[in-house]
Amino acid sequence: MPLPKPAAPERRRPLVVAIDGPAASGKSSTAKWVAKELGFRHVDSGALYRAVTAAALARQADSQEWSEDDVLAAAAVVRLEPGETSFEPRLGDAAIDDELRGAAVTAAVSLVAKMPRVREWVNARVREAAAGHPVVVDGRDMGTAVFPRARVKIFLVADPWERAKRRLLQRFERLPTDEEIAEETDALVRRDAKDESQTQRAPEAVLIDTTYLTQEQQVERIVALARSAMRLSR
Ligand code: CDP
Repeated sequence: MPLPKPAAPERRRPLVVAIDGPAASGKSSTAKWVAKELGFRHVDSGALYRAVTAAALARQADSQEWSEDDVLAAAAVVRLEPGETSFEPRLGDAAIDDELRGAAVTAAVSLVAKMPRVREWVNARVREAAAGHPVVVDGRDMGTAVFPRARVKIFLVADPWERAKRRLLQRFERLPTDEEIAEETDALVRRDAKDESQTQRAPEAVLIDTTYLTQEQQVERIVALARSAMRLSR
């Protein structure tokens, strides 16, 4: 009887570190820093949803008028520009960082993120970016829908008041008042509710509550988990 053929060697897939969590839990800034430490590239899936929203706003300012086809047509100008340590969203050739964090985009992005074909479009762009290079990806469903086989999965959470305070510190570059934090907390928990169906925690994700951690501490933990996964998969 002929001997069975040896199994073809499995092609090594580049390593994926997937960081998920609710609004303003610190995913993007943490993911960016972790990517630098590891020599990986950062892909911010939320920034892609925001870029598609900015493109749709540029065509039609009233989001109530948008159909899924309109939003997908607008997405045609959005692309991910590879850099040394990240993939940055661009509208055509324009860098759009400030606009993406603005109030108009933030108010309409959850609507766009509910559109199934837009989600497929974003997921395809994120997977393309991850295909040729190890990445740290962040979002709501990176460890579940997009990279179910990611080697490292993290779910970041933090107390809503603390998340609101951090977001305002970033926005105002000064200490916010309690009234400002209260208003932002309200906006954040409302957006959490809108995003609930697409925010998924993989059962095997490591939960990190960052309420009482410095950013450096949370980065150290994730880098340690990634280095351990890299040693184990050698
Ligand atoms: O940083 P922040 O939590 O404010 O949000 P983000 O990561 O920039 O994402 C903006 C919006 O995109 C979220 O409110 C979600 O509606 C959506 N999103 C999503 O549905 N799935 C992802 N993987 C990432 C973002």
